[in-house]
Amino acid sequence: MLSTTLNMPGCEARGWVVVDSMVDGLALGGTRMTPTVTERELAHLARAMTQKLALVGLPIGGAKAGIAPVPGAAVERRTVMRGFGRAAAPLLHGGVYLGCDQGTTYADRQLAFEAAGYDVARRAGTTRLTVGWAELWDHMADITGFGVAVAVLGALRASGARTPQRIAIQGFGTVGRAVAGHLAAHGHRVVAVADVRGTVEDQRGLPVAELTALTSGDGTIDRTRLPAEVRVHGPGQAWLHVDADVLVLAASAFAVDEDAVPAVRARMVVEGGNMSCTAPARRLLRESGHTVLPDVVVNVGGAAATGCVLAGLAPSDLPLPQLSEWLRGWVADRIARNCELVQELSTSGSADPVAHLLASHGAPAGPPGPGAPVER
Ligand SMILES: NC(=O)c1ccc[n+]([C@@H]2O[C@H](COP(=O)([O-])OP(=O)(O)OC[C@H]3O[C@@H](n4cnc5c(N)ncnc54)[C@H](O)[C@@H]3O)[C@@H](O)[C@H]2O)c1
Repeated sequence: MLSTTLNMPGCEARGWVVVDSMVDGLALGGTRMTPTVTERELAHLARAMTQKLALVGLPIGGAKAGIAPVPGAAVERRTVMRGFGRAAAPLLHGGVYLGCDQGTTYADRQLAFEAAGYDVARRAGTTRLTVGWAELWDHMADITGFGVAVAVLGALRASGARTPQRIAIQGFGTVGRAVAGHLAAHGHRVVAVADVRGTVEDQRGLPVAELTALTSGDGTIDRTRLPAEVRVHGPGQAWLHVDADVLVLAASAFAVDEDAVPAVRARMVVEGGNMSCTAPARRLLRESGHTVLPDVVVNVGGAAATGCVLAGLAPSDLPLPQLSEWLRGWVADRIARNCELVQELSTSGSADPVAHLLASHGAPAGPPGPGAPVER
């Protein structure tokens, strides 16, 4: 593992890039910008990237970058992104692709790349697309949620469910909204969604499109314009107690810990976010008969689609709609297959099906080891 602190003069921010693994000279991960991000958090996320990319069979290692602005700093966002780009330039040019993650946008990424003199579309080995990268990822903004929905639909089919299922979703951001939209489009009933301010619930089914239109870019639902029949719960964990068949976790890490497990009503728990359950909670859920769809298997859509283009596996001659369909098909096939394998391993008595699956792909299981960065 390579973990490096960036020198970003004039940015009033700390920055790091962690490379968990390189494969064929390439690593991939996003850049997270939060006031609390740490090098250690990045090491865990970079390890998860290694695992996700290995599980979909891409010859790319895992990385993650982080920017922690000093609280109250008056430096403009674009100055920070340019400073980050200049500092990370040797890594970008050396094969470490750093896309968007929590707290950064496509426009931020573009500023960083320009400051680094880096153009991913011209990188040797990358698919030469006939569409622009910005246009493609704008069209594919729902890809991670799409992949999560594919996993849920497959698991429901495998469980024999034939009727519309009740879905509760914690987190109504990029991932949560896309999961809600895709599952509703398949006839399932989204009965509750939660954002940072609380949970909104309607057991008859929430109007997903209407709710999405009432939601800001950061995933906050406007309570003043909700339909009258919707029940509004305050902050807290109402989403955990809602009557539902499937609980999709798409907010922050460790949303479900051991203490929360007895309260989980849904028989299927889906880690749409990274590390949504603690490891003991995941084990307890399985032991108590819940189906758990794990993060490194299901929330890989964005990483997998980006990796497919970076590794030159995507076709170069397709117009946008067909390219998007091709990438969605590629992602859906891998996620569906890995979910089936996890289920088969579970059924045959594996206590840790994901570790087995990772081992069969030659990928490291579990968190980064003692060499990982410590908090400073
Ligand atoms: N966006 C992606 O492509 C992608 C890919 C892989 C993994 N992830 C992970 O998925 C998770 C969600 O990502 P996103 O891009 O949708 O984030 P986002 O920032 O767009 O949305 C987060 C949502 O969670 C809500 N939230 C925050 N704290 C909450 C709490 N305590 N209770 C209930 N809701 C809460 C927010 O209000 C918001 O609705 C994150 O863990 C992210 O790292 C995202």
